[in-house]
Amino acid sequence: MTSPFKFHDKTIFVAGGTSGINLGIAKNFAANGGNVVVMSRSQDKVDAAVETLSSYGFKSMGFSADVRDYDAVENAFSETVKAFGEIDVLVSGAAGNFPARATDMSPNAFKSVIDIDLLGSYHVLRASYPHLKKPGASVINISAPQAFVPMQLQSHVCAAKAGVDMLTRTLAMEWGAEKIRVNSIVPGPIKDTEGMARLAPTPAIIEAVKQSVPLQELGSADDIANAAMFLSSPVASYISGAILPVDGGWSLSGAGVMMDDLVKLMPK
Ligand code: HXC
Ligand code: NAP
Repeated sequence: MTSPFKFHDKTIFVAGGTSGINLGIAKNFAANGGNVVVMSRSQDKVDAAVETLSSYGFKSMGFSADVRDYDAVENAFSETVKAFGEIDVLVSGAAGNFPARATDMSPNAFKSVIDIDLLGSYHVLRASYPHLKKPGASVINISAPQAFVPMQLQSHVCAAKAGVDMLTRTLAMEWGAEKIRVNSIVPGPIKDTEGMARLAPTPAIIEAVKQSVPLQELGSADDIANAAMFLSSPVASYISGAILPVDGGWSLSGAGVMMDDLVKLMPK
């Protein structure tokens, strides 16, 4: 939790920051002085996250909002700025996932993931823009190896996260002159997360995933948070438009091995 990078008097907004990797990111910024705002659908998760984040001794607040609802997202940003001032760091990480063959899911199932991951990211980026500190804001999209590693049972997530990385790269160009930096972090397989519970549901699959990671271990939410704090620190001031894997080298080895094993468990 202790980082060489400090965020006192900085406003950090984490979309989807109430569980898993994103909550880990929020906690690390709070532990290092940041005033952290989280937003997700469940009011209970928002309340619990705010309680945890406040325990670090700095300011925290939260909003119950669905990233598919542009007006609700816009409201969260304007209320944040009224209370905490302009946003220094934006992390956009709300996402949904389930394993299903493209032809086994309904059009609405495919659309749900596109709407949360891709359109929702656009909503977050679009609504935050007037409130980002210029110059100086750091924007981080949470991507996934699916953005560039094709995986069975993940057509919806692959399509959505590839789009998220293209948002990173196009907005790094459009916002560069205002000194807003935009980067993606690509987490690998991260232990104790909802994502891994859904895609690696058995001890055998988890073990196979571990073996397929060059560093031979799963990552932690702190690993991802450390990268987020680095990218939001002054030493990263010339990094923009980067797609940064934090995955123990997993994407180099194909990563799709996880889904090859899961396919065998799916109904024919
Ligand atoms: C096929 C499914 C399905 C499944 C839902 N659907 N689950 N289809 N297989 N397992 C279909 C539903 O039948 C419905 O279609 C449509 O998807 C929308 O479902 P709802 O439940 O109405 O949607 P909603 O309440 O909006 O929930 C969205 C969700 C849900 C994505 C389906 O799972 C969710 O809220 N997930 C958030 C948490 C999460 O997924 N965390 C993991 C992120 S990990 P019909 O046609 O019936 O209406 C990640 C990357 C991990 O992103 C990478 C690891 C390496
Ligand atoms: P998680 O715990 O389910 O986190 C998802 C977060 O997004 C939750 O806070 C959830 O809260 C929120 N959320 C979901 N749908 C939302 C919506 N429509 N509107 C607003 N908020 C919404 O999952 P995780 O595994 O930690 O994943 C976090 C991020 O890391 C995701 O972007 C995922 O794609 C990425 N990732 C994860 C892994 C992994 O190994 N787990 C690997 C690569 C990438 P509510 O339910 O309250 O809305």
